[in-house]
Amino acid sequence: MDIRDAVETRRKLAQGGLDPTIQEAFGQHFTPSITSNLLAGMLGLDNLTGTVRILDPGAGAGSLTAALVHRLRTERPDLSLHVTAVEVDSILTPHLAETLTACEAYGQVETELVQGNFLTSEDARMRGPFDLVITNPPYGKLARNTEERKLSARRTVDTPNLYSAFWAESVASLAPSGQAVVIVPRSWANGAYFTSFRKWLLPQVSLDNLLVFESRDSVFADSGVLQENVIVSLTKGPQRPEVTMHASVGHGTEITRRVVPFDVVIRPEDRYKFVRFTDGEVVVPPAASHTLADLGITASTGKVVDFRNRDLLFQDFESGTVPMIYQAHIRPGGVNHQLPARGKPQWFRIGTTAADKLTVPSGTYVLVKRFSSKEETHRVVAGVWSSDAPTAFDNKTNYLHVDGQGIVPDLACGLALWLNSTLLDRVFRTFSGHTQVNATDLRILPFPDADTLVRLAHMAPKIFSSQEDIDRLVDKVMSEADAE
Ligand SMILES: C[S@@+](CC[C@H](N)C(=O)[O-])C[C@H]1O[C@@H](n2cnc3c(N)ncnc32)[C@H](O)[C@@H]1O
Repeated sequence: MDIRDAVETRRKLAQGGLDPTIQEAFGQHFTPSITSNLLAGMLGLDNLTGTVRILDPGAGAGSLTAALVHRLRTERPDLSLHVTAVEVDSILTPHLAETLTACEAYGQVETELVQGNFLTSEDARMRGPFDLVITNPPYGKLARNTEERKLSARRTVDTPNLYSAFWAESVASLAPSGQAVVIVPRSWANGAYFTSFRKWLLPQVSLDNLLVFESRDSVFADSGVLQENVIVSLTKGPQRPEVTMHASVGHGTEITRRVVPFDVVIRPEDRYKFVRFTDGEVVVPPAASHTLADLGITASTGKVVDFRNRDLLFQDFESGTVPMIYQAHIRPGGVNHQLPARGKPQWFRIGTTAADKLTVPSGTYVLVKRFSSKEETHRVVAGVWSSDAPTAFDNKTNYLHVDGQGIVPDLACGLALWLNSTLLDRVFRTFSGHTQVNATDLRILPFPDADTLVRLAHMAPKIFSSQEDIDRLVDKVMSEADAE
């Protein structure tokens, strides 16, 4: 018997019948059968005994439960199952009830449908302990003043999204050595907002499997979700020394697997605990063991928000104005203020305390674009800006400086070359799925020491070198530095 086809039909029916407003509020995007099987397949079944207690919070039409029950009944017919499926939306519960009935028909399966709010309910049936949790939680911002945010903060950790609150609650409900598998957006892995979530989660679980879908439109395409999703499976208990990394472009494509040391996934010295989706192939050269802070350099976001400072911005140069730099001016290597910046005013008036505070003094700075398009080959694009006058940097740029002042030109040049290298871009991609590069990201990236960066600058014939030249130089300088 295989109930999964019928559940897939029910899922599509349920998805089609959703009220768009409720769908948005409850984050109702149901998991296709092929993905449900992937999630169910990530859980280890070897150590299970007796009656396995299963939780599916935010169960929708029950696709995940069906996939897991099918797998367990097929691979471990010796076990009995008890499933608790939690769903808040009464429109969906009839579909869910049908799926649970179909699960029971396998035999040795008991189910319980609990209608209620997983984050606020007092119903003890949702709180475990459970041996296995499988969930595609709802995604959506969790505003500070909501009951859901306050209660989950009290019970587990204060976190800004429904999905991370669901995930935390799921982990809290696990028995020792219990396992959870979740499909979630990638933002938890490196977002600054999720630092406290990571710091809460990581000491109490072992990350076992991480799967990243490299294409944004592959998983929930039929419910209109375009975002990078990851599947994470974990065990409650101490971290194992290795993590299995799976990568897939989308469904129907082959999944590659690689076992990597945990220290590569979360670097021991990383105080933000970024989780890197690395295949283990991107090797950071040992000599690149410094952060910007070690080099005495700070990464900041440009201070001028154009729509707030309209009165200070001018299309044409006037006396008392200084260059206004946008990310459109940044090219790999340099910054060209002569380039048109989509009709934006190119000059910024200084001369008042408020305006002067928004500029940097004359000197040399490294600018890094904050946003790139998906099509651009590099996420990190850096250019050197030098001026003997103060300059205003737009808020969609990041700039590197030394305590608000410029950087020694050779060092700035070396920093830009390093930032524009393919190696650095690949390192960046191991922890970020975004096209956005924020100051926090720059703060945790690895850099060689100042001498090596200056040597790199001296070896480059020009700052606008071709990609091949940059990569060749970086390779040479880093091999020499590693050998020292
Ligand atoms: C992303 S959908 C996933 C549904 C199903 N697990 C699947 O994978 O197809 C999230 C589900 O959680 C439900 N939900 C949203 N907020 C909830 C809450 N606070 N408590 C319980 N369920 C909730 C939604 O109605 C929706 O069915």
